[in-house]
Amino acid sequence: MARTDNNSGRKKPNILITGTPGTGKTTMASALSEATQLRHINIGDLVKEKNLHDGWDEKFECYILNEDLVCDELEDLMEEGGNIVDYHGCDFFPERWFDRVVVLQTENSVLYDRLTRRGYSGTKLTNNIECEIFQVLLEEAKESYPEEIVFTMRSDTIEDVNNNVSSLSDWIRSWNTAA
Ligand SMILES: Nc1ncnc2c1ncn2[C@@H]1O[C@H](COP(=O)(O)OP(=O)(O)O)[C@@H](O)[C@H]1O
Ligand SMILES: [Mg+2]
Repeated sequence: MARTDNNSGRKKPNILITGTPGTGKTTMASALSEATQLRHINIGDLVKEKNLHDGWDEKFECYILNEDLVCDELEDLMEEGGNIVDYHGCDFFPERWFDRVVVLQTENSVLYDRLTRRGYSGTKLTNNIECEIFQVLLEEAKESYPEEIVFTMRSDTIEDVNNNVSSLSDWIRSWNTAA
């Protein structure tokens, strides 16, 4: 790939994997991490482990992530490069952190089944399905990052995961040789 892709000074790229809960971010990020030896950072897990939150949100049944604490925690690693960040949000990370932003997308009925299997029901289920229908994460990504680094990828089947991992691995490899 063209050298112009690599103007960050990082030896390895940082990739953000985002999308509605259940679209397969963690599945794909861990497969990609295994294939490329890049570091998988699951923001949800990190927030819990390091207490980077302001308590539990009863209504949305999730931790209230503290954006400043998360960004401070990650700054050095992100500057170093070679990270795959996995989170269902993207507007609070510094724009300069990422070389590529991948928005995973899943067909509604497939996503519905996955979230039901995960135990989601009622408003939580509906909110997430609507989030996918209205492409909330894609809009957020386009508003937060340069359009040329934002890509959508299908995540309906395991074959999709394999194809996505393979094309992203190629891109990461070409980044290494271009540096
Ligand atoms: N592309 C895919 N095809 C089939 N099943 C998938 C796919 N992506 C994820 N899954 C399954 O869907 C569930 C949710 O995936 P997960 O990676 O935890 O999503 P997220 O991290 O985006 O919330 C898991 O049970 C996972 O095995
Ligand atoms: Mg996940």
